[in-house]
Amino acid sequence: MFNYIILLSCAVIVSSHLCLINPHQRGPLGGLNVPGAEDLDCNLTAPPCGGRPREQSILSLKADSNLTVVFQKNIGYFDPALPGNFTISVGADENSFTELVTFEDSETKDLYLHFIHDVVVPSTLGHHIFQVTYVTSPGVVYYQCADITVI
Ligand SMILES: *[C@@H]1O[C@H](CO)[C@@H](O)[C@H](O)[C@H]1NC(C)=O
Ligand SMILES: *[C@@H]1O[C@H](CO)[C@@H](O)[C@H](O)[C@H]1NC(C)=O
Ligand SMILES: *[C@@H]1O[C@H](CO)[C@@H](O)[C@H](O)[C@H]1NC(C)=O
Repeated sequence: MFNYIILLSCAVIVSSHLCLINPHQRGPLGGLNVPGAEDLDCNLTAPPCGGRPREQSILSLKADSNLTVVFQKNIGYFDPALPGNFTISVGADENSFTELVTFEDSETKDLYLHFIHDVVVPSTLGHHIFQVTYVTSPGVVYYQCADITVI
């Protein structure tokens, strides 16, 4: 019980961050390459898109093509006994995400860049949202979304 309480208090103190670089996350990329920067751009915890509203998409992607999704574990807290995970999803709106890729967090250093190749762009045309989530060991979930257009 005592250990459990310690773990819970760690969860409050330890903060993690997630920056979505490609496709570019909604809003600026303040805090990129600065572990645990005070900046809030990579420290968004409101589902499903970190509280950031939909934007005009600046990236057009060919239907059914392969995309390399790039994101940064800006700062992380990793407990091997309770590994968190990263998930990439895509949807036509914020209520219809389909999971594309998911994998467990590991002992990677702060600022680690994940390059996830061969993420398949949807076949339906028009506005879509790529979402990346980072479930951390302490249970806090970080969210980033990017608006793109499938052509
Ligand atoms: C990240 O956000 C949380 C809650 O929104 C806040 O308590 C924390 O201080 C922020 N961390 C940094 C390093 O900005
Ligand atoms: C990711 O973590 C969440 C929360 O603990 C869990 O529900 C989900 O099954 C995990 N997914 C993977 C692939 O580990
Ligand atoms: C595109 O991604 C799919 C699924 O991830 C993979 O099977 C395929 O080999 C990739 N194609 C190219 C040209 O990289």
